[in-house]
Amino acid sequence: MIVSETPKRSNIRWLQAFVLLYAMAVLPFGVASAQEQTKESGAREPDVEYVPTPQHVVNLMLELVNVKKTDLLYDLGCGDGRIVITAAKKYGCKALGVDIDPARVRESLANVKAANLENLVTIEQKDIFELDLSEADVVTLYLLPELNVRLIPQLEMMKPGSRVVSYDFDMLGVEPDAVVTISDRLDGEYKIYLWRVPLNKVAPLSTVSTYVSHSVRFGEAGRFLAIAAAAAVLAGFFWCLR
Ligand SMILES: C[S@@+](CC[C@H](N)C(=O)[O-])C[C@H]1O[C@@H](n2cnc3c(N)ncnc32)[C@H](O)[C@@H]1O
Repeated sequence: MIVSETPKRSNIRWLQAFVLLYAMAVLPFGVASAQEQTKESGAREPDVEYVPTPQHVVNLMLELVNVKKTDLLYDLGCGDGRIVITAAKKYGCKALGVDIDPARVRESLANVKAANLENLVTIEQKDIFELDLSEADVVTLYLLPELNVRLIPQLEMMKPGSRVVSYDFDMLGVEPDAVVTISDRLDGEYKIYLWRVPLNKVAPLSTVSTYVSHSVRFGEAGRFLAIAAAAAVLAGFFWCLR
């Protein structure tokens, strides 16, 4: 009996070891490929997830930034297209909405079509960090503070006198021309920031970029560590088998 149990146990141990080894080797790549699958048509992950600006805040942002019919307005990360659609509908201006997420682009295009504004509004699937802003008169933002900072070199390419408006988030190192604080029963207290180009920079950009790169690279570092850990476990396993 004892003799017949020994090979069975050893088989089970081998099987367990194989499963563990397989899991350790494949897991990091599985995580990475699951992340890849959330993307479509080669787009990379959005830098911030989709949260729409409430419609009454959209109205207020456009009013504060004093949109005119002759303006060309860009919404960077346009979500469902509500900012560009409202701007075109209320002010009759031309507008460009850009989003990296194909689902958001499809939604925006459908909303533009439903509003019959295809003559004024264009929607493009693009990375906002690869966008030339030199033609824009107004840029609207609802991103994150560090993403606003990353956009500074592009915003500086806008024409003198053009305007930037951001819901909720400031731009570290650039003094706003106005900050409007609103308290309402629906959203509590929130802020709208306004800047005019040329931007009034109050800190050297290098200081600000250092702060940005730390927060942005964290995800990549995590993935690298997971793969390195799996490689170390593999090496240890083969060393034990020697
Ligand atoms: C917080 S939502 C704001 C949506 C819209 N602007 C609004 O105010 O309702 C941010 C949007 O930015 C998009 N986004 C994130 N990173 C981006 C990038 N690098 N390039 C283009 N769009 C991006 C997201 O897909 C999302 O739709």
